Amino acid sequence: MEIGKFNLIKTEGRARRGEFCTAHGVVQTPVFQNVGTAGAIKGAVDAFDLKELGCQIELSNTYHLHVRPGDQIVRQMGGLHKFMRWDGPMLTDSGGFQVFSLATLRKIKEEGVTFHSHVDGRKIFMGPEESMRIQSNLGSDIAMAFDECIENPAPREYVKNSIDRTTRWLKRCKAELDRLNSLPDTVNPHQLLFGINQGGTYDDLRIEHMQAISELDLPGYAIGGLAVGESTEVMYHILDVVLPHAPQNKPRYLMGVGTPSNIIEGVARGIDFFDCVMPTRNARHGHLFTHSGILNLMNAKYQTDDRPIEEGCQCPTCRRFSRAYLRHLLKSGEMLSQRLLVMHNLWFYNHLMQEIRDALDEGRFEEFRAEYSEKMSKRI
Ligand code: GUN
Ligand code: ZN
Repeated sequence: MEIGKFNLIKTEGRARRGEFCTAHGVVQTPVFQNVGTAGAIKGAVDAFDLKELGCQIELSNTYHLHVRPGDQIVRQMGGLHKFMRWDGPMLTDSGGFQVFSLATLRKIKEEGVTFHSHVDGRKIFMGPEESMRIQSNLGSDIAMAFDECIENPAPREYVKNSIDRTTRWLKRCKAELDRLNSLPDTVNPHQLLFGINQGGTYDDLRIEHMQAISELDLPGYAIGGLAVGESTEVMYHILDVVLPHAPQNKPRYLMGVGTPSNIIEGVARGIDFFDCVMPTRNARHGHLFTHSGILNLMNAKYQTDDRPIEEGCQCPTCRRFSRAYLRHLLKSGEMLSQRLLVMHNLWFYNHLMQEIRDALDEGRFEEFRAEYSEKMSKRI
């Protein structure tokens, strides 16, 4: 398969079963990308563990790696794949979101954004070209466009100006990445660019922006600016409105989403890629995903419970340890609890995607959705 090509294998309603080819292998979709923000998965899980957990594609962040250790250092070490010893497909987010959510004293101009680092307060400038240069130094397989992610709700006038600027930024990203990919010493000359749709909660602006970015004929498109303040109903509505205007033969990535039911509902609306910190973040607080809902390990009833987190789960944690033991580790603040609980949640997410793909392959996705969509996000 040609790098950057998306092969649509099967559809059921608007849900899609496909495969996407990158320089480090083919990704079976729908897929969940495991988040390793600064080249490390929170909870002391390494790249070899990721393989065992069924991870197909890892996601890291431009902003964090630029601030520390610096993308020049990563480049010098042979790129992020080699640095963190992950040899599979990798996507990097552009910094667009982190600059707006983490950095302070932010100033946005046509050229780009000036901000202060959340680590040492140092003043940094990042625009489309800087973001592409950093991602090129990291050598990921998919680079995300440098965008402005606006919190919802935002005034219409602001959103309109912002999407126009994000479109101009996208054109600059494309020109710069084409240039970088053709240099003789590029870490990953097959790096692909995904565009990002914005437009807040305005149906017409979402559509207008999607149509504008679709014209660039990029290998993939993301829906950004969701799960940033609006209700779940509004998020689903925006997906219903905008996805019919996204290219059918390209993968669609819903950024930063979400719960198991958000993922099932996203797939039902035509999303192919997801990512979220929820499995790692929740695990560290003892919130564990199961097919019957979210289990809170802090609950006293698990103190002498000899069962695994989820009966039948084949993850490295459930194959070996009881709820009682894991609860003890968590309550004692043992580092080991972080690792064991994160491993279960990541396994759960990766295997949920496998179950979704199997259901699509067998033409029973709607049945799967009816059985699990609500149940999986309920607290038990
Ligand atoms: N992660 C979650 N949402 C977004 C977004 O809108 N833009 C970017 N670049 N990353 C995101
Ligand atoms: Zn498990």
